Amino acid sequence: MNTTKLRQAPLTAGDPFHADVVAGLSRPQKRLSAKYFYDAAGSQLFDRITELEEYYPTRTELGIMRKHAAAMAGCCGPRVMLIELGAGSLVKARLLLDRLDRPAGFVPVDVSGEHLEEAARQLARDYPKLPIAPVTADFTADFPLPTIPAARRVVYFPGSTLGNFEPAEADALLRRTAALVGPGGGLLLGVDLRKDVAVLERAYDDRLGVTAAFNLNLLTRMNRELDADFDLGEFEHHAFYNPARSRVEMHLRSRGAQRVTVGGAAFDFRAGETIHTENSHKYDVRELTARALACGWRVEAVWTDPRDYFAVLSLVAEPR
Ligand code: SAH
Ligand code: AVI
Repeated sequence: MNTTKLRQAPLTAGDPFHADVVAGLSRPQKRLSAKYFYDAAGSQLFDRITELEEYYPTRTELGIMRKHAAAMAGCCGPRVMLIELGAGSLVKARLLLDRLDRPAGFVPVDVSGEHLEEAARQLARDYPKLPIAPVTADFTADFPLPTIPAARRVVYFPGSTLGNFEPAEADALLRRTAALVGPGGGLLLGVDLRKDVAVLERAYDDRLGVTAAFNLNLLTRMNRELDADFDLGEFEHHAFYNPARSRVEMHLRSRGAQRVTVGGAAFDFRAGETIHTENSHKYDVRELTARALACGWRVEAVWTDPRDYFAVLSLVAEPR
């Protein structure tokens, strides 16, 4: 009988999450993609963030939406197919849906499948006549779009989720979105603007520690899904504004020197070493409109709040 003990392959081998984590933790500056924040618990923690006193973006964007929803719906036009990228709990879309002229359908897209399905079920109860087709997918790659006959396609991309991408990735996403809606299609884009550093840093390091819990949940998720052994007490939330890159960065900082394993692979941390978990770029409207132009869009309208904290842009895809 052959008694050689075979090394058990990690249950997660072949899983893209596992591959991304191993690649990200192998880099000199350890990195993880912010999309992995959003398991069911992460999506719930994000919802709590949106209600924090320090987290001004959601409240400010909702204020802009409430004030200008009719004009935004006018930009969408009649019988539109509205596609929301990074749809979350579908709070903001309702303001638009209430004003749209005979919408053809609503397609919320999100990686957080369970959370999306529940939000879509609640929406269907409130909008019984609206065709709703949720799609669980990563919007940075191709995803299947349901066939809904419509006069026009418009992508709704609120929340400054675009800001979670590096400039080159954001440009690629803007180009991909222009191709998705086709010439004459639309994009309603919500972006967070540059402002006082203290305001920005407070928004990402709240007193109740909800943002810290959101950041640390990534370690819990890896422990559960990838058979990792992160000790949550050995890592701390760290958020700061990086003025050279116009972005708030979130990191998980190792309190001491330690070794962590993920599905059998070992990763060493020095005391103070960080895993970079998120960027949240802050925009300047003029710069952003120049970028949108270079990515196949023309600007139709820009709405902001009285403090110029946040902007919602209506863009139209140019003929290719
Ligand atoms: N639109 C909502 C939620 C923003 S939170 C709002 O404005 O408040 C960002 C959302 O995008 C989360 O629900 C997250 O699950 C989703 N998300 C992040 N990266 C994604 C990706 N690459 N593909 C699909 N969804 C993504
Ligand atoms: C979803 N995204 C735009 C949020 C942001 O502000 O970058 C996620 C978030 N991270 C910490 N707080 C909120």
